[in-house]
Amino acid sequence: MKDTQEQLKLKLQEALDAAFGSDYSKVDPILVAASNPKFGDYQANVALALAKQLGQQPRAIAQQIVDKLDVSDICKPSEVAGPGFINLKLKTEYLEAQLKAIQGDPRLGVAPTNNPKRVIVDYPSPNIAKEMHVGHLRPAVIGDCLSRIVEFVGHKVERISHVGDWGTPFGMLIAYLEEAYPEALTTTETLNLGDLSSFYRQAKARFDADANFQQAARQAVVKLQAGDQKTLLAWKIVCQLSSRAYQVIYDLLEIAPFVERGESFYNALLPEVVEELDKKGLLVENQGAKCVFLEGFTNREGEPLPLIVQKSDGGYNYAATDLATIRYRVQVDKVQRVIYPVGIEQTNHFAQIFQVGRKAGWIDDVEFVHAPFGLVLGENGQKLKTRSGEAVRLRDLLDGAIAHARADIENRIKEEAREETEEFVSNLAQVIGVSAVKYADLSQNRTSNYIFSYDKMLALKGNTAPYMVYAYVRTQGISREGNIDFEKLGADAPIVLRQETELTLAKHLLQLDEIISEVEKDLLPNRLCEYLYQLSDKFNKFYENCPVLKAEEPVRTSRLILCDLTARTLKLGLSLLGIRVVERM
Ligand code: ARG
Repeated sequence: MKDTQEQLKLKLQEALDAAFGSDYSKVDPILVAASNPKFGDYQANVALALAKQLGQQPRAIAQQIVDKLDVSDICKPSEVAGPGFINLKLKTEYLEAQLKAIQGDPRLGVAPTNNPKRVIVDYPSPNIAKEMHVGHLRPAVIGDCLSRIVEFVGHKVERISHVGDWGTPFGMLIAYLEEAYPEALTTTETLNLGDLSSFYRQAKARFDADANFQQAARQAVVKLQAGDQKTLLAWKIVCQLSSRAYQVIYDLLEIAPFVERGESFYNALLPEVVEELDKKGLLVENQGAKCVFLEGFTNREGEPLPLIVQKSDGGYNYAATDLATIRYRVQVDKVQRVIYPVGIEQTNHFAQIFQVGRKAGWIDDVEFVHAPFGLVLGENGQKLKTRSGEAVRLRDLLDGAIAHARADIENRIKEEAREETEEFVSNLAQVIGVSAVKYADLSQNRTSNYIFSYDKMLALKGNTAPYMVYAYVRTQGISREGNIDFEKLGADAPIVLRQETELTLAKHLLQLDEIISEVEKDLLPNRLCEYLYQLSDKFNKFYENCPVLKAEEPVRTSRLILCDLTARTLKLGLSLLGIRVVERM
């Protein structure tokens, strides 16, 4: 109900104007959601803020505003309460009309922005010379969700994976490829090099065991940096092998397609970036390294901390690449907003490169934001590890979730003495397993660490994916039971809200646009999860208290429309989290 809020704000300003003169016509009326639904839907707190300035009691000010306030088409008569709040309660007929207006709207009242921007979301951006592990989960899930939300709001979103595809870590893999699969370098066919994990492990074993091999690996890095053709080819093959292996997991997670444009892409631009920093007088030599000094960053001794952009051996680092990336995104991609869903441990890195980007004049009015996230922890509260102490492979983590989901489903089917096909069970297990992992991640405040627990994330009660999907399934059950095609519910049937639980549900349904625009701004998907969780709660209370199929017309159709709107809101909201619903479970 962003529109409603806007209108109320304007009306309050008109009243302020009428009561205290035009100096007050632009004052923020401080309209917020009511602290307690008993008192209304909104409250305006402006009277308290103006007390000093006007030299009057807040209650008296509030009363003068109310006397001039004309919101009778939206609200019941407003009241002054407490120390001087203005309480506003929406009229039932107004709510009914608002709901009616979204009934035929596939966007459920979420108007697309009238200021569409070009936005880059930088994700999942893994370092690919590595096995895929639990650390790769959050950037993929959070990045996918944020992209979907920003895109839904109406912005033009480019998903770009800034893969770590360059530099030292590749030496070992290149050397191993050259040693174990020399034929890969002479044929144009794609060879089967086994899966990435065994390739990676074998390379690592060689590296750990043999000093000559280590030497070859270092050599490979030097040759790679020097642009040696054969080494470049080997590097490309290793990158492809990684990308393909990673893609299998992204497909399983149903992450929307993204473009891969990694660190290597900016390699050729690095010298000119450093040169430009130099020309702008930002570079300082420090023990042979080229640095930019930053404000607000000091070392332990309290001395200013420099950001190194070129090492003393002439090599460039992660920061230099990101500076080139900032410049490219602004000047070539012409973006207006760049979002980096990246671990919280890189907070300083981003603050630093954004600062240098601003000093260099690249950033200007482009919004660069780091959307940090915490760690995934094991049930012992420590970083999630396998028994032997390695990072858990992402594949194993997801397979585990699907297996757990499957066991739950099979149990339930048995208890309910149902017959289901293997296809039904395996499809459902996959949807629920993967959704549970995603939802458990997104429903936490992204900046916190969270404990990864199959039992918790797969629980059928609580703020979990199975619970949310089940809430949707129940709404579909109503349409099956009553043999009702939700899509054909009368476009001109009235909506009538009589019971308290109906009104509560209706108001919640109408808040979707507020939540989405909040999440688009603050980039906190847990708000959307919380909204959906409360929606299913409010729907349950409505359904317990209000007969639907047995009700008389026009209430019956009106309530069916509420069921349909709940279903569609759940489905849309979950889809923005990257979660699919099922019709039956
Ligand atoms: N590859 C980095 C890592 O795994 C993340 C890159 C994030 N994006 C960026 N433009 N720095 O830590």
